[in-house]
Amino acid sequence: MKILGIETSCDETAAAVVEDGVSILSNQIASQVEIHARYGGIVPEVASRQHILAIIPILKQAMTEARVIWSDLDGVAVTIGPGLAGSLLVGVNVAKAIALAHGLPIIGVNHLEGHIYANWLVEHSHGLAPLFPSVCLIVSGGHSDLVLMKGHGDYMVLGRTRDDAAGEAFDKAARILDLGYPGGPAIERSARAGTASIQLPRAWLKGTSDFSFSGVKTALLRLVEEGRVSIKADAAASFQEAVVDVLVTKTVAVAREHRVKQILLAGGVAANELLHQRLVKNSPIPVLVPQPVLCTDNAAMIAACAYYRCQAGKIDGLDLDVVPNLKLS
Ligand code: KG4
Ligand code: ZN
Repeated sequence: MKILGIETSCDETAAAVVEDGVSILSNQIASQVEIHARYGGIVPEVASRQHILAIIPILKQAMTEARVIWSDLDGVAVTIGPGLAGSLLVGVNVAKAIALAHGLPIIGVNHLEGHIYANWLVEHSHGLAPLFPSVCLIVSGGHSDLVLMKGHGDYMVLGRTRDDAAGEAFDKAARILDLGYPGGPAIERSARAGTASIQLPRAWLKGTSDFSFSGVKTALLRLVEEGRVSIKADAAASFQEAVVDVLVTKTVAVAREHRVKQILLAGGVAANELLHQRLVKNSPIPVLVPQPVLCTDNAAMIAACAYYRCQAGKIDGLDLDVVPNLKLS
C-alpha cells in the first residue's frame, strides 16, 4: 500500500511516498530555515506564502523520486495539526485537491503522532521494530510530551511541559548566546567544543512527569547579562547537559514505572546526539530513535502514521479541516 504524505505544519514543505508504513520510496523536504533565520525565528505569514511556492515542486520531486504515478497511490495523508493555521491550510487544501482529482482516500494526521511513527520507518532504526507498550518522548519546537503508547493510535499523555518546549528552550538559549537559528543544532555544535562546567538549575517537578525549561533558560540569560560567561561553548554544553539530564531522568523513571518494553524518541530534539547517547546509557530497556532527518519535520512520518490509521479504518472525508491546537489523545 503506497501512501503520499504531505507535511506543511511549520517551516518545512515536505512530501514523501511510503510503502506499507515502513519503506520510504521518497522523502523530499524544502526547508525555509534560511528565510526565517534573518528574523531569528519563524514568521507565520512568510511561512504560509513559502509553502504555496514550494508545495507543487516538492510533490513532483517526491513522485519522481518514488517512480510512481497517481494511479500507483492508495491514499494521500496530510498533517492537520498542531501547527500554524496558515501553513497547515496549504497542505490540507493540496491534499484535498489530489484526493478529489484522483479519487484517493484522504487521511488527516496529527503531527505529534507522525513524529512517533518515524520510529516505524524500520530500515532507518537499526533493525529494531517498535514494541508495545512503549514510552514515547516527543521533544520538538512546540512540545515536550511523555506518552504511554499501548497500541497503534492508543496514547496516554503522562507528562508535558508547563512552559517552554525543549526545542523552544534550545532556540532561546542559542539566541541568548548569539549562536544562530535553529538553536538546537547550533547549541549542539558549539557544545562539542566545550565542557559542561557551569551548574545550571533543573526543574524536577517531583511527583509529576511534567517538564519546565523556562528556569534554566532564565538562569543562562542572567549569567550572560552579568558577564559571567567567558567561554560560549561551555555555556552551550552546560545548557544542553541541564536539558538532557531532566529529559533522560524523567523518561527512564516513567519507563520503569509503567514497565514498558521500549522507549521511542521523537521530534526535532531527538536528533540531539547527547540525548540519544545518555538515554541509551541510562535506560534498562531498548531505546529507538529515528535517523536525524526523520526526527525533524518530514512527510515520510506522516505517510507511515497514515498507513496504521488506514488499517484501523480511520479514513477522512473531503470536509477535513486544519486543527491548529490539535492534541494527542
Ligand atoms: O520536530 P521539529 O522539526 O519541528 C516541530 O515540530 O517543532 O523540531 C524543531 C525543534 C527546534 O526547536 C530545533 O531547535 C530542535 O527541534 N532541534 C534540536 C536539534 N535539531 C533540531 N534540538 C537539539 N539538538 C538538535 N540536534
Ligand atoms: Zn515537528
